[in-house]
Amino acid sequence: MSTLLRPFEPGDHAAALALWRRTEGMGLGAWDEAEAIQRFLERNPGLSVVAESAGKLIGAALCGHDGRRGFIYHLAVDHGFRGQGLGRRQVEFCLAGLRGHGLTRCHLVAYQANAEGRAFWRHLGFRERSELQLYSRELTE
Ligand SMILES: CC(C)(COP(=O)(O)OP(=O)(O)OC[C@H]1O[C@@H](n2cnc3c(N)ncnc32)[C@H](O)[C@@H]1OP(=O)(O)O)[C@@H](O)C(=O)NCCC(=O)NCCS
Repeated sequence: MSTLLRPFEPGDHAAALALWRRTEGMGLGAWDEAEAIQRFLERNPGLSVVAESAGKLIGAALCGHDGRRGFIYHLAVDHGFRGQGLGRRQVEFCLAGLRGHGLTRCHLVAYQANAEGRAFWRHLGFRERSELQLYSRELTE
């Protein structure tokens, strides 16, 4: 069955969140609720992607940039649809969009424990930056 890739629309949020919730290696939070995702999509029109088969959402990735660097988040392909090139096609969709905005580098974050996800990114040419450490701080304190 053919699979369609298209831009992630705000109306895809519920199906995408359901996919992310049943996907290993995802770090989800309040920033993945509908309002926050809609804001992200409005700031980064056309860069995020979904994959559909028979009208059902079976893949998704968020993609955006800050004017300097591109970022990919929450790449997922549903169980049963993996190993068919959908992960690579979604990443290529995102990278093509970033190139179209003049971006020359894309970052992403993966959990240390997600060995398979990390191997996937390396296979697609992403370098692991062991010299860097991610820092985060809540802004509500
Ligand atoms: C990682 C994931 C998106 C891959 O999706 P997929 O559709 O199965 O991947 P593809 O079929 O597009 O594979 C593309 C290429 O990567 C390779 N690949 C796939 N999974 C791999 C893995 N775990 N390790 C190494 N290579 C891998 C494939 O062999 C293929 O190689 P080729 O194009 O050179 O022949 C999917 O397994 C998934 O959703 N995993 C859980 C979520 C996750 O870990 N996301 C990424 C971290 S945030």
